[in-house]
Amino acid sequence: MLKRLISRWPLVATLYFAQESLSPLRAEVPPGPKWLQRAVFYQVYPQSYYDSNGDGIGDLPGITAKLDYIYSIGCNAIWINPICESPFGDAGYDVADFYKVASRYGTNDDFKNLCVEAHKRGMHICFDLVAGHTSVANPWFQQSALERANRYSNWYIWTPSREGVPGSQPFPGQHNRSDRYLPNFFWFQPALNYGYAQPDPEELWQLPTTDAACVAVREELKNIMKFWLDLGVDGFRVDLAATLVRNDPDHQGISALWHSYRAWLDLEYPEAVLVSEWSDPALAIPAGFHVDSLLQFREPYRILLGPESRLDGNARDPHAFFERAGGGDIKAFVDAYIAHYAVTKSRGYISIPTSNHDTPRPTWGRNERDVRTIFAMLLTMPGLPFIYYGDEIGMKFLPEVPNKEGGTLGEVRRCGSRTPMQWSKEKNAGFSTAPAENLYLPIDPSESRPDVATEEKDPASMLNFTRELLKLRREHPALANAADFRPLYAEKNQYPFVYLRASATERIVVAINPSERPCRVTLESIKPVPMRPLLVQDATFQDGRFEMGPVSFAIFGAGN
Ligand code: NOJ
Repeated sequence: MLKRLISRWPLVATLYFAQESLSPLRAEVPPGPKWLQRAVFYQVYPQSYYDSNGDGIGDLPGITAKLDYIYSIGCNAIWINPICESPFGDAGYDVADFYKVASRYGTNDDFKNLCVEAHKRGMHICFDLVAGHTSVANPWFQQSALERANRYSNWYIWTPSREGVPGSQPFPGQHNRSDRYLPNFFWFQPALNYGYAQPDPEELWQLPTTDAACVAVREELKNIMKFWLDLGVDGFRVDLAATLVRNDPDHQGISALWHSYRAWLDLEYPEAVLVSEWSDPALAIPAGFHVDSLLQFREPYRILLGPESRLDGNARDPHAFFERAGGGDIKAFVDAYIAHYAVTKSRGYISIPTSNHDTPRPTWGRNERDVRTIFAMLLTMPGLPFIYYGDEIGMKFLPEVPNKEGGTLGEVRRCGSRTPMQWSKEKNAGFSTAPAENLYLPIDPSESRPDVATEEKDPASMLNFTRELLKLRREHPALANAADFRPLYAEKNQYPFVYLRASATERIVVAINPSERPCRVTLESIKPVPMRPLLVQDATFQDGRFEMGPVSFAIFGAGN
């Protein structure tokens, strides 16, 4: 059925462009490593990807074993969630030793080997840098907590207990100080002290960013980056990148911090990239990041795909654009997106991930046809695509799986996106040979769960559809990461959304209709250019007019 709906059409249609709109369509390529211009990222949650030693938990040799698969999708860069030694209270975002791979994932040598094997294939590896906090089990914190003053005393933010600063925590122990520390996220993730941009002169515990302890923390983060770069990584996804400097209302402190890291990288490691978890590209990219991700907790992303999954179950938003109900407001998305894009397009890249380890998968409450429509948009937008492992085969979001390693965050359920990758119809979906009860999280119990081996054999599968889209992106200069983007039709509560991607030699127009109602639009007052269909799901495009079926998309191109 889907095969029939997704057809390549022999027709040549016509798109019209205003003559005066042609000249500005020459996007400037952002500075930074050349490999970013064609990078397509794949995110691996290591616990759940592939277990090579039968202990029920994914590991680094497991990722290395799957590099060819990742490359075959069309992804040439990988972001791996934290891999360092940790008590795993927050899935590894609570680091106990920044210089050592957690034994459950393997050794530093396994990581080095992963980088070597990735580089052999022309792929790049990004390390998840937890810059803002450590675990309470980290020896730096254990030292910092001691009553006796030492090198680490001010590496964390300690406030006199009488102050009762909101969120501050006591840390028990016989010889520990009576001050309270500030956590950065969960209580067991004490914030590293990068200082206050505007310390309150009445509160002497608020150290300025120039304080020796804050400078030492800043240097330590550089040492960590250097260590992993020398081992072979190609860059960092920086966790909670915006949170490091406190009381920083105009963002000058945090910008100065990332500027200094970027200047150092540009000089010493010019091929290394910085990807931020910030979700404010207009701030993050001028601050020094090459890439910033739009995330579920901020407007542009929520307007498209809706919010997180909550225990109360009421979080689905019928007004998200990618809902069949058709009550979405693409204009609100475009307005927010363009505000970021205009400021950043010649300086860095925006990413709109398919999902991640904190958000529901795109399949949540949607069928495969809906998800294809989402992919048609996300993989033809400018910036860097990020595909979360398993989204390429249509893995389900499983809200009912048990809470594991901090997966449930207040009311927000995150484990449903963290279940083992489904490789085949074999035991444990080919993820692990361990007894089922030893698996990191249970496998999707559904008999109809998707898997890689089955989808490999089906030319019309979600996997092969993803490959086809990424092949288009690879082969068409107008779909390059830095090629220009311009909305052509984006009206409040109207469908479809139509936009143009353009390079010096080629133009591609994309129309997206996620609603269950058919729709049409005519692009007016513009000059004719012949267009040919590249990939279409139940839509026509002729003489400047799109006729879109329910839940449909059309990608048409002109030029080389
Ligand atoms: C963002 C990460 O994506 C999330 O999984 C983690 O819990 C928090 N940062 C805290 O590090």
